[in-house]
Amino acid sequence: MRPRRAYAEPYRIKMVEPIRLIPREARVAAIERAGYNVFNLSSDDVYIDLLTDSGTAAMSDSQWSALMKGDEAYAGSRSFHRLRRVVSDITGYEYVAPAHQGRGAEHVLMAALVKPGQRVLGNMHFDTTTGHILLRGAEPVNLLRQEGYRVHSDAPFKGDIDLEALRRELEAHAAEGLIPLVIMTVTCNSNGGQPVSMANIRAASELAQAYGVPFFFDCARFAENAYFIKEREPGYARKSVRDIAREMFSYGDGCIMSAKKDGLVNIGGFVAFRSEEMYRKALEWLIPFEGFATYGGLSGRDMEALAVGLEEVLDEAYLEDRIGQVHYLAELLTEQGVPIITPAGGHGVYVDAAAFLPHLSRAKFPAQALVVELYVEAGVRGVELGACAFGRIDETTGETIYPELELVRLAVPRRVYTDRHMAYVAQAFGRIADRREGIGGLRLVYEAPVLRHFTARFERL
Ligand code: F0G
Repeated sequence: MRPRRAYAEPYRIKMVEPIRLIPREARVAAIERAGYNVFNLSSDDVYIDLLTDSGTAAMSDSQWSALMKGDEAYAGSRSFHRLRRVVSDITGYEYVAPAHQGRGAEHVLMAALVKPGQRVLGNMHFDTTTGHILLRGAEPVNLLRQEGYRVHSDAPFKGDIDLEALRRELEAHAAEGLIPLVIMTVTCNSNGGQPVSMANIRAASELAQAYGVPFFFDCARFAENAYFIKEREPGYARKSVRDIAREMFSYGDGCIMSAKKDGLVNIGGFVAFRSEEMYRKALEWLIPFEGFATYGGLSGRDMEALAVGLEEVLDEAYLEDRIGQVHYLAELLTEQGVPIITPAGGHGVYVDAAAFLPHLSRAKFPAQALVVELYVEAGVRGVELGACAFGRIDETTGETIYPELELVRLAVPRRVYTDRHMAYVAQAFGRIADRREGIGGLRLVYEAPVLRHFTARFERL
């Protein structure tokens, strides 16, 4: 199952950005000032930053030189046309609209297609997608197949949608016009960066088509998904990742993309359509919220760098190294006895904090406590995906409803860290494991009404 890495990193380093580990006492003081929430840390106080793989990639020499070619014309920019050609070549979708990032693209798509009271189906919508569906007064419906929720599994495609559940939803609601679209998120971020198989994509698309419902991709990590298909799905080993991606997009009517992931850029996104009519509808929202049709919130140079990034991300030597590095970290952590979601996904390793710190009840925020401990131990920043990020208060009973899983995500930025950084992170976990019984919990002392994990503050119990 582990992606092989036959060679060393397929790049050499031309420019470096110094990082430093501040002393332990300074880390203790910094995290206390931050209210035990790593979102409040200054990044100068972080040694290895695994908060997200989004917008954190290192650009290549080709991307940096492409920046100089940016055409900053308000309308009809040459850089837009270049980006459009690259996106259309990979996706087959003719109508492309840039957006400032993924959520901008989501806003435009949902505003164009979704009405109050409707149900937007998907394998598992990302948080911001969920937010935009809710903002339209519609209902986000996650139909991930059961296997996808299991922490330990050797299923190769834990991002697959439950086809039977999808059929039931379509059968029950499509005829009344209650299903504006189906969105397949590749890879599925919310359960660990898990891939979706081509067979599942094809079958889900056929179902949607049979009921006359548009089928879209949230393709933030499409190249990683395509690489998993090549590695794991029978019949694809000899196909190029580019051809696999093309086949995948051929089953859809369009896509939204946060280019901050597999676009290998620090900002950007787009929405793309097969149908001119849908594109026209989207422009009604794109222009007032993101920007004119040929820039959508991006500068010309951003679009140049993205056009290059979308080509580079399909390089199979890059993908072998990228996914291989994430799996290398997963292996090192497993050797240290750290429980993680298996198989590891494409963009990060998800640690099962409830199993790692079994003496802490959910009310004591074990995943947040582990994030804090990792920072204090080693200056490494991970992120909590558990009781704080997804827990909520039941309005009638006043009781806290906890999410199924209590996780710490270690997201690996693209082309940024070396395997020695990964080894350092795993060693830190080993030291924490040795003294885990002594790790105390946290108490929430401030929370905002929505998306509380970004600004929450805690105290040590
Ligand atoms: N869709 C998926 C699958 C994502 O993972 C994200 C962002 C978005 C949409 C939204 O894109 O941030 O460009 O507006 N995920 C980041 C993460 C934030 O850390 O996983 P955005």
